[in-house]
Amino acid sequence: MKKVLLLCASPRPKGNTYQVLEECANTIENEGLEAEIISFVGKNIKSCLHCKKCEELNECIINDGINDIITKIKQSEGFIVGSPVYFGTARGDIMSALQRIGMVSFFNQNFLSWKVGGPIAVARRGGHTSTIQEMLMFFLYNDMIVPGSNSWNMVFGWAPGEVQDDKEGMEVIRKFGFNVATLINKIK
Ligand SMILES: Cc1cc2nc3c(=O)[nH]c(=O)nc-3n(C[C@H](O)[C@H](O)[C@H](O)COP(=O)(O)O)c2cc1C
Repeated sequence: MKKVLLLCASPRPKGNTYQVLEECANTIENEGLEAEIISFVGKNIKSCLHCKKCEELNECIINDGINDIITKIKQSEGFIVGSPVYFGTARGDIMSALQRIGMVSFFNQNFLSWKVGGPIAVARRGGHTSTIQEMLMFFLYNDMIVPGSNSWNMVFGWAPGEVQDDKEGMEVIRKFGFNVATLINKIK
């Protein structure tokens, strides 16, 4: 079955970002694809060492769980990343993860090429667009395909669960999930 992997960068179990990704995953499953969310809860993702060991190992030399994520990305046709906004940027861990995943792909037949997906940003008040742009750099560099939606992939919420009140934001996420699934069904 075709699959979409969704990476949740929040350290809060069942926080806002997780709930947004659940909504996205449900839409993708309704379109007949498998969807799996991987959470950063309990993970401690380190930054790229620029050691270039991935060129010979075809995986990252740091064993902090990133290689399991990479294996699951390789097995998926889609890859979506959700991050809470921290001071107008993505949470540090997720940029560390994306930088390492990108480096391993670069030295491993560009396995990210033509995977369909994109970034989602969740915040109380502001910084969504800069966070989306920050994560988008990863998708566009790595020859990935990023569909649009009815607006930008941003949802508002502070305390866990508040994103459920952002009806427009959640609708945008459902539309994005639908577009990702539909595109995968057409091109894969
Ligand atoms: C260190 C830190 C920085 C934050 N910076 C911002 C910010 O720049 N803009 C904003 O609107 N919310 C900011 N927030 C609030 C979170 O983005 C918001 O609570 C979000 O819903 C958390 O998502 P989560 O429940 O998935 O972890 C910040 C929270 C933390 C912990």
